[in-house]
Amino acid sequence: MIKPLNLVVACAENRVIGHGRKLPWSIPEDMAHFHAVTAGQIVVLGRVCYEIWPRVALDGRLPVVITRNPSLIPPGVRVADSVDAALAIAQTLPGEIMICGGQLIYEETLARADRIYLTLVHANVTGDVYFPEWRHLAWRESAVRESRNEAYRYTFSTLERVRP
Ligand SMILES: NC(=O)c1ccc[n+]([C@@H]2O[C@H](COP(=O)([O-])OP(=O)(O)OC[C@H]3O[C@@H](n4cnc5c(N)ncnc54)[C@H](OP(=O)(O)O)[C@@H]3O)[C@@H](O)[C@H]2O)c1
Repeated sequence: MIKPLNLVVACAENRVIGHGRKLPWSIPEDMAHFHAVTAGQIVVLGRVCYEIWPRVALDGRLPVVITRNPSLIPPGVRVADSVDAALAIAQTLPGEIMICGGQLIYEETLARADRIYLTLVHANVTGDVYFPEWRHLAWRESAVRESRNEAYRYTFSTLERVRP
């Protein structure tokens, strides 16, 4: 059976997700949520995301790194030179497929995503990396929880793609 595609992202209202190779905010509750959702699963991610998350393989995660320069990735780490090649590898591994960015990888997979684990940060923030517009597609919200810290209000949503 073909595994469903899950996207996992924390996104501002203006779709910013990153700034200067970092997250544009500090939201420890969202980091904990991100780690919990991806633990024990197949994590598909771009080369930059891999570089800034070197401990991705903790907690039983199975990373598949997308790069055209496999020599940049340590030996033993699964590497693919395209999104489709990464997803083909992911289909052979145990667990759920969690696509964790960055921008181009979300852009290439959004239309085929079955679910988004979305943390919507209710702010417009400055950044240089964006999540593609998703709100024009049809989604059913299967779970929702609002929260906040001293700086941000945010909503954890699970969005299931509705296809005619
Ligand atoms: N808020 C969130 O949920 C979230 C999630 C993820 C990332 N981020 C943020 O986003 C930023 C990192 O993301 P990013 O978009 O800059 O980088 P990225 O997607 O992690 O990495 C970009 C690299 O991935 C490879 N790549 C991407 N698409 C490819 C394709 N179709 N075929 C082959 N290789 C491909 C290329 O590697 P090579 O150059 O090696 O060929 C490219 O330079 C950081 O600021 C991070 O904090 C935020």
